[in-house]
Formats: sequence, structure tokens, C-alpha cells
Amino acid sequence: MNSKSILLTGGTGLIGKNLTKQLLAKGYRVSHLSREPGKDPHVKTFLWDIHKGEIDADCIDGVDIVIHLAGAGIADKRWTEERKKELIDSRTKSIGLIYHLLRTKKHQVHSIISASAIGYYSDRGDELMTETSPPSNDFMAKCCIEWEAAVDEGKQLNLRIVKFRTGVVLDNGGALAKLAMPIKLYVGSPLGSGKQWIPWIHWLDVVDMYMYAIENETFTGTYNMAAPNPVTNKQLTRAVAKQLHKPLWAPKIPAFLLKLLMGEMSTIVLGSTKVSARKIEDAGFKFKYPEITLALKEIYG
Ligand SMILES: NC(=O)c1ccc[n+]([C@@H]2O[C@H](COP(=O)([O-])OP(=O)(O)OC[C@H]3O[C@@H](n4cnc5c(N)ncnc54)[C@H](OP(=O)(O)O)[C@@H]3O)[C@@H](O)[C@H]2O)c1
Repeated sequence: MNSKSILLTGGTGLIGKNLTKQLLAKGYRVSHLSREPGKDPHVKTFLWDIHKGEIDADCIDGVDIVIHLAGAGIADKRWTEERKKELIDSRTKSIGLIYHLLRTKKHQVHSIISASAIGYYSDRGDELMTETSPPSNDFMAKCCIEWEAAVDEGKQLNLRIVKFRTGVVLDNGGALAKLAMPIKLYVGSPLGSGKQWIPWIHWLDVVDMYMYAIENETFTGTYNMAAPNPVTNKQLTRAVAKQLHKPLWAPKIPAFLLKLLMGEMSTIVLGSTKVSARKIEDAGFKFKYPEITLALKEIYG
């Protein structure tokens, strides 16, 4: 039995659900900070309202590590000015509420492990992005810069800070389901030129990386969270089609059409981000799914 207590924000999401399961299996005490009451009897749920600046002050009692995953879905809605504000506020004001609590209440929290995103680098062609590469200057980059800066405020509280610049997480739902649906319907095809790099990662490696950061208490800093062998959009589309035993014959979807349909948000699918996994590997992390075929085989069974 592990006696450590972990509080997750956004613990009900794609990553949070899987991480919660793994933490419980390993004997950790797990609690969530959520906008709604929880349903899992093994997890205590505390409530917060980021817009009203309200948080249940009991949420940090006995907690050792906070995992910050909360954030409005990046690709859920069109990026209006109001939506952009929501995307940033849900990530920055949220961690700000926790820091305010840590400043004003006795606690034993020593570490903050937070998501960030590969959107920090955004659209960079074939250049290999390391953690010291400068950020881009579009909306996704602005969002990530503000998100990371808000998390870094915790350094003033002498907290250990880990930030994971997360790539496209592949599991049965999420981005992969969106990509696979047209392929299943025989209308799948690469997007735009198809040459854009996709910084993918298998969900089990995501969970393992969070566990690695939780269990190695000297581990600190910013790390790319993407597999060591990135693929292009065309390679990924082909690999999924092969795994699903479907042909690919539809023409490429032109970039202008995607820009028309998605607006500014089209950078998510048209942008090219080739990301290095060297830093996390040098820190001793071993990927279970370093290669796309292996990852897709596991996902599609
Ligand atoms: N999955 C990916 O491919 C990927 C890639 C790059 C970065 N990331 C980042 O990693 C983090 C976790 O990813 P995920 O895929 O697990 O996210 P997710 O499935 O979208 O879940 C995020 C959670 O955040 C909370 N949330 C949603 N909207 C919110 C709002 N407006 N205000 C406050 N909280 C809100 C929700 O929890 P409650 O309903 O319990 O409040 C939700 O379950 C996110 O910040 C995401 O941007 C993910």
C-alpha cells in the first residue's frame, strides 16, 4: 500500500481517467478537483468554479503531489475570442486558485506535475524541436506560454515543477478516433500536403511518464511528451488504414478547405511539429511504444 496522496485536476478526462486507474492500482490515495461531483467511489471529488474563483479549501489536505490536467478542450469549439480566453483561463486561473490556497493554508504539497502542449512550438516544418527551442507566436503557442508561466509561479512556493509538452495522445477515442472514422468509411485521406509531422504518443506511455514524474522526486523541469519516432500525417493515415485493413483512395483534403472549415484552429491539423524525445530518454524513461505500428496494434487489438 502506497501512502502518498495525489490530487488531480481534470482527472475525469482522457489522460486523467487512465492515470487515476493506474494510481489506484498502485495503492495511491487519489482525489479529483472537478466542476462536477464525481461518480467513482474510490476517488474523493472536491469542487471548484474557476470563473467564480471558488475552490474547496479541503482539497489540499494531506496531499503530496498535484497533477494539473484541467483545461477546456482545444479542438472542441471554434476559436472565437471568447473561446480563446476560456482555453487559457481554464489552464491558468485554475492552477492560480491552487497556488492561492497553498499560500494561505498549511499543507504538505511538494510537487506540481502539469500538462502543457506541443502547441508551444506549433508549425515548424521539418525542424526538430527540443525543450530549449523557442516558442512559436500563434494562438496555441501563446496559450502554452501563459499556461507554463502560470504553473511556474509554483517555484516561488518552493515546489518541484514538472511540465510535459504533450503531443497527440493516441488511444481508442480522442484524436485517433477522429482520424480513423473517415478511413473506416472509405473516405480517409491525408490532410493538406500530408507532409506535416505529427508528434504522437501512445496513452500508456503518457501514463507511465506521469508515474515516472510522481515516483522520481528529483525529476524536475520541462519535457516533451511524444514518442521518439514521429510520423507525417500521411504515414499516420496509412498506418491506421493498414491496421484497419481499409484501402486509401480518396484524394488529399486540400489545406484551403480545412482552413475554411476550421478557421484559425486548422493549425492543429495542418501544422508540422517534429519533436525530440531525447531529454526524457536521457533522464532514464523507457517508451513501451516507441514506434507507430506497435502503438496502433496495441490500440486496435
Ligand atoms: N489528449 C491529448 O492528445 C493532449 C495533447 C496535448 C495536450 N493535452 C493536454 O493535457 C491535459 C489533459 O488532456 P486530456 O486529453 O485528458 O483532456 P480532456 O479529456 O479534455 O479533459 C480535461 C479535463 O479538464 C476539465 N475541464 C474541461 N473544460 C474545463 C473548463 N472550461 N474549465 C475547467 N476545467 C475544465 C474536465 O474535468 P471536469 O469535468 O472534471 O472538471 C476535463 O475532464 C489538457 O490540458 C490537454 O490540453 C492533451
